[in-house]
Amino acid sequence: MGSGIAHVAAAAGHSTLIYDSNQAAAGKAIESIGKISARSVEKGKVSQEESDGMIARLSAAKSLNDLSGCDLIIEAIVENLEIKQKIFSDLEKIVKPECILASNTSSLSVTSIASICKHSERVAGMHFFNPATLMPLVEIVPGIQTHSETVRIIRDYTIQWGKSPVVAKDTPGFIVNRIARPFYGESIRILEEQWKGIPSGEIGMATIDWAIKELGGFRMGPFELMDLIGNDINYTVTETVWKQMYFDSRYRPSITQKRLFEAGRFGKKSGRGYYNYAEGAVIPEPIRDRELGGQIFSRVLTLLINEAVDAYYLHIATRDDIDLAMTKGVNYPKGLLRWCDELGADVILGNLNSLRIDYAEERYRPSPLLQRMVKENSKFYKAEEWHHLKN
Ligand SMILES: NC(=O)c1ccc[n+]([C@@H]2O[C@H](COP(=O)([O-])OP(=O)(O)OC[C@H]3O[C@@H](n4cnc5c(N)ncnc54)[C@H](O)[C@@H]3O)[C@@H](O)[C@H]2O)c1
Repeated sequence: MGSGIAHVAAAAGHSTLIYDSNQAAAGKAIESIGKISARSVEKGKVSQEESDGMIARLSAAKSLNDLSGCDLIIEAIVENLEIKQKIFSDLEKIVKPECILASNTSSLSVTSIASICKHSERVAGMHFFNPATLMPLVEIVPGIQTHSETVRIIRDYTIQWGKSPVVAKDTPGFIVNRIARPFYGESIRILEEQWKGIPSGEIGMATIDWAIKELGGFRMGPFELMDLIGNDINYTVTETVWKQMYFDSRYRPSITQKRLFEAGRFGKKSGRGYYNYAEGAVIPEPIRDRELGGQIFSRVLTLLINEAVDAYYLHIATRDDIDLAMTKGVNYPKGLLRWCDELGADVILGNLNSLRIDYAEERYRPSPLLQRMVKENSKFYKAEEWHHLKN
């Protein structure tokens, strides 16, 4: 992630230093940025001149002290609170008073990271999506100590870098990793069940993936995507969010995924995950039944919309930032709050209530805001905004 972020900053015209405690890694990062950039030149995406200029702005820092003149430092080291706190406390001793200190953490509390600093008001989360050069979203996460000026400065940088910033409350999973949980969790749950005759093996996965892509308009199905992200990473994110939510069963990880993780079936990178990527392995065919597919998609979408509505209800982010985050960070075909308006809060609430009756489980607990919206007959977007969105 660090090299991708450095690439973005250098491409936008900033002199950029890369520091890594493993000396060789910084040099390797610059090498790999060079290769990626050379490919972009070949494809005609950037000119040779732009690429040369970007490379010239990059250098490897030999020690942390080399960062003393920086205006902004984005930390993207190992996801461990103590190690992150140590580097923030070391950095604070050497940087200028106005230097902004940001963390690319995906799951730790920004407030905890900042708490080690004397000037915690200049610390914030700056969460990029992988690959940072391609994904436009950046979640800016103020800790409770963060000054609004810090948020403004980080927002200006991200806009200057051609990214789409959103502001997220410092809560587990921020926006995307919180709201996206049922995309994976509910799909696995459907697979685990004897649900409307879906087989629990590869045909079942292929059928769910097909339904979400074909009928939902998503670029990738949940099982394909988990195999791409890595089941180790996806499982860990799910488990972290669940633990940090004080074991709210709505976020409970799945044993199916844990077993894959334990078996080293991480997905594409290990050659096998939900699917088998070995040469010659049979590619499973989905059951292309539009009615069944529609039911699968509706169940997953219902839970996603419920998460988005609840995130809005709990002030995790604004309406526009919630919708932007899911489209720009994970390529959803539509913002979920907009989708809620389109389908109707009453329909989503009805779906949840019937799932709740069938299962008697907390995971189908509707957001109180859905109930209120139905009572008040309200929507997220006004009619005139719809017109604007459609055009
Ligand atoms: N991989 C992703 O998709 C992704 C997405 C968003 C955010 N993140 C976050 O970005 C951070 C980095 O993730 P990654 O996947 O790039 O990890 P990684 O393991 O690939 O890279 C981490 C780098 O940090 C270096 N490092 C470790 N401890 C250090 C220290 N004390 N000082 C200096 N350098 C140190 C390592 O040598 C390594 O090169 C994590 O906080 C992660 O949660 C990752």
